[in-house]
This record gives sequence, structure tokens and C-alpha cells, in this order.
Amino acid sequence: MERTLLIVKPDGVARGLIGEVISRIERRGLKIVGLKMVRVSRELAERHYQEHREKPFFSELVSYITSAPVVVAVVEGADAVRVVRRMVGATSPAEAEPGSIRGDLAMDIGRNVVHASDSPESAKREVELFFSPGEILSYRRADEPWVYERSA
Ligand code: RTP
Ligand code: MG
Repeated sequence: MERTLLIVKPDGVARGLIGEVISRIERRGLKIVGLKMVRVSRELAERHYQEHREKPFFSELVSYITSAPVVVAVVEGADAVRVVRRMVGATSPAEAEPGSIRGDLAMDIGRNVVHASDSPESAKREVELFFSPGEILSYRRADEPWVYERSA
């Protein structure tokens, strides 16, 4: 099983979309193994978005993600990074497919509701940035044998 980091960004929290986003993840059959609300510090934001530090939108991106609470989740499942990225949709909401989170719930690239790790390497780095090992829990979902043909 693979893990990925999902963030409901400040716009998603402020718009009352925490439940909508988490519900979509749960209904897909993905498992939430870590979950908390945090106010991201500038230092954490700069580390999280380090790949974008040279981009023109970097300072706005850091200001925004630190401006209000976010909800962060560690999501586990088969091929979780790819599955969650596809559920999130394209970065620009105008390009995001209907049915995706951004394609259904967003209008602006700077207010696109969610973040999801873009590779297994990013996922490992981001999960470790936001969660200590003790904040990630292991449990069995009752529907696992129905979600996966071969569940452990
Ligand atoms: P995310 O990291 O939030 O999951 O989004 P992403 O992979 O689809 O997009 P990424 O290229 O990593 O960009 C991170 C966030 O920066 C904002 N952005 N603004 N103004 C712009 O051209 C621009 N490009 C990116 C978006 O909020 C994007 O989610
Ligand atoms: Mg990204």
C-alpha cells in the first residue's frame, strides 16, 4: 500500500468543503491514516513548496497557505499517489475534468481547494514534513475485503 499527503487548503476549509473532500476520499475506498487541522508556519510552507521557490507565484502561494487553517491527511491505498492526483484534477480548475475535486468545486488556480503529492518521493517527503510517526495510525476498514479483491 502507498501513502500520499492531501491538504484541504484555506479556501476549502473556509468554504466548508472539508467533509466533501474527505468524503470523496473515503468513498473511493482510500483509507485516512492521519488527519489534523493546522495553521501552517512560514517555515513549513517554504519547505513544502521548495520546488516552486523560483516561481513568480511563490510568495503569494506561501502567504496564502499560511493565512488560515488547513486540514492535512495521510491517505493510504493501492497506487494512492496517482489515484488521489486524478481525483484532485488539473492544477488550473478550468482544465480540471468535471468529476474531479477541482473540476467540481474550484474556479481559480490560486484557490484550487486541495493539494496532493505528485509522486511517491514527494509523498514521502511531505508526509514526513507534516506528520510525526506517532500521528499515523494503523487500522482495518470493515469494507477492505470488498474494496480489494486480495486484501491482506
Ligand atoms: P498542488 O501542489 O497544490 O497539489 O497543485 P499542483 O501540483 O497541481 O500544482 P503545482 O504546480 O505544484 O503548484 C502548486 C500550487 O501553486 C499554485 N499555482 N499558481 N499562478 C500560477 O500560475 C500558479 N501555478 C501554480 C496553485 O495553487 C497550485 O496548486
Ligand atoms: Mg504540486
